[in-house]
Amino acid sequence: MPSLDHAELRPAYPVRTERLLLRPLTEADVDDMLVYRSRPDVCRYVPFAPMDRQVLLDRLAGPWARTALTGEDQSLTLGVELAATGQLVGDVILFWHSALHRGGEVGYLLDPRFTGHGYATEAAAAMLRLGFEELGLHRIIARLDERNEASAAVARRLGMRLEARLVLNELFKGEWSTELDFAMLADEWRQRG
Ligand SMILES: CC(C)(COP(=O)(O)OP(=O)(O)OC[C@H]1O[C@@H](n2cnc3c(N)ncnc32)[C@H](O)[C@@H]1OP(=O)(O)O)[C@@H](O)C(=O)NCCC(=O)NCCS
Repeated sequence: MPSLDHAELRPAYPVRTERLLLRPLTEADVDDMLVYRSRPDVCRYVPFAPMDRQVLLDRLAGPWARTALTGEDQSLTLGVELAATGQLVGDVILFWHSALHRGGEVGYLLDPRFTGHGYATEAAAAMLRLGFEELGLHRIIARLDERNEASAAVARRLGMRLEARLVLNELFKGEWSTELDFAMLADEWRQRG
């Protein structure tokens, strides 16, 4: 079974789903992103603090400027836009953890004004498709705080399996956090109903 030593992911943008467009973020997105990434409630269970404009601009010019995955230990962050209106409603990320094990991880974050419509599930499914079908990953995980029920619901809607419950394993934002690890294999992606 080949590793992904020479693999790359270079999506054709925008990546289209039924209702959404996924596309690289630019400095022009800073105001829309500030609306949700500056909110403590949005950042409650994610591994970063609420962001200010300068932090966002630094990320947009730095790691979020990446538009392709060319090697392991890289991540691709894409903006999630409503196809009908062009409104940015959130962002999604695909990490490529290992070329040898063909492993990756998905993450998702929405502006609270746009939750409750299935956009996170739809956008994350597009990232799973890119990871499995275009990059050739074997297994993609989602890791989350057990208290983050909305995030666990997304993982379940995506068809990911709960594989592990790591009890109070991380000192997260000043308190011990129980981690849930969800996963999906490429075979499961191909066989999903
Ligand atoms: C996690 C997060 C992205 C989930 O957002 P969400 O809107 O609940 O998830 P989805 O976009 O998949 O929408 C699902 C909801 O839309 C409803 N829905 C409406 N139309 C739908 C459709 N066409 N398809 C699917 N679901 C639909 C579902 O019933 C569900 O509602 P419910 O929560 O009342 O059961 C959001 O809470 C968030 O950004 N949280 C902060 C960041 C975060 O914690 N990210 C995860 C880090 S691990």
